[in-house]
Amino acid sequence: MNEIKEIKINLKDRSYKIFINDDIEKILVNSIEKILARPKVFIVTDENVAGFILPKIKKILEDAGIKTKSIIIPSGEKSKSFQSLEKLIKELLNYKIERQDSLIALGGGVIGDLVGFASSIIYRGIDFIQIPTTILSQVDSSVGGKTGINLEEGKNLVGSFHQPRAVITDVSLLQTLPKREIIAGYAEILKCSILGDKDFFNWLKINQKEILNLNNNLVAEAVEKSCILKAKIVEEDEKESGKRALLNLGHTFGHAIENKINKDGHGILHGEAIGIGMCLAAEFSVEMNLCSKKNKEEIIEIIKKSGLPTDLKDLNTEIYAEEIIEIFSLDKKRKDNSNTFILISDIGNAIIKDEISDDKLKTFLISNGFK
Ligand code: GLY
Repeated sequence: MNEIKEIKINLKDRSYKIFINDDIEKILVNSIEKILARPKVFIVTDENVAGFILPKIKKILEDAGIKTKSIIIPSGEKSKSFQSLEKLIKELLNYKIERQDSLIALGGGVIGDLVGFASSIIYRGIDFIQIPTTILSQVDSSVGGKTGINLEEGKNLVGSFHQPRAVITDVSLLQTLPKREIIAGYAEILKCSILGDKDFFNWLKINQKEILNLNNNLVAEAVEKSCILKAKIVEEDEKESGKRALLNLGHTFGHAIENKINKDGHGILHGEAIGIGMCLAAEFSVEMNLCSKKNKEEIIEIIKKSGLPTDLKDLNTEIYAEEIIEIFSLDKKRKDNSNTFILISDIGNAIIKDEISDDKLKTFLISNGFK
């Protein structure tokens, strides 16, 4: 890919660029010096990523005269905890990190969220750069400055808004991902199109198969379109006091399902839960007379064709409506004891709907396969 795609997120003194290409060396050589306050970085990554890409990135940086130190943490969601955060910060302090140094978050959403949060609190905030290595992190979690960790009570309940200094996205890094993870990450691309861009949705209908087969040019275009949409929303509402909530389409239902299923030890990927969450949001939009049945069917069809689950039946597990409503009660978006949902009035047009009662939800969930 010749051209490096660049998307600027305009946030005054916190503005930054997302760089997209299929050659990490090209992006780093072109941009890294301008991004760093001084040529010293701490690369934080996980065991899975360390083996395949860390040595290459260290070499590119060191060849460019940048000192590097790497820290490898265990892979998986359990690293998004207070315990891992404390361990990481202590390790960085042992290595004598200074205020002008930068952290690099090299990995998926877990690494990005944890490292972003650590960099927002070490010395009351130092610079960090995102190098996302999964689809989900390339189109969603690396962009927009949400950082955080999980508690037993729920995901992302503790965190901060801390924008990275840059996002460096190499779509060729996705080639080593298992198919299941590619499909799950793709859910966030579908989400962007459904919530804000009908032309993008129609483009995905045509190109979905090739994107899932990781045609680099098409993946780069899909990541770019998703990031442009996200950048616009974040520019308007950085701290989620309004419009940014639209990016949570499918996430209230999805998070609750994910939380419940993973607690039971069955294992569902975030994007898979979001696939079902978006189908439930579409069904609920019809139920609330907000969108047409035809729109709903089109949404469910594209999700199904991508290979994502669309229905609780696809998960072979029983979930009680009451349990899901209990999880909603801890949702950050809940206001005055009633529920807020992101629903759809059309493909490419999501809306925020609040004051939805627990009773209404319970009836809806039971008519959609919950016990
Ligand atoms: N992942 C949703 C957001 O960044 O707001």
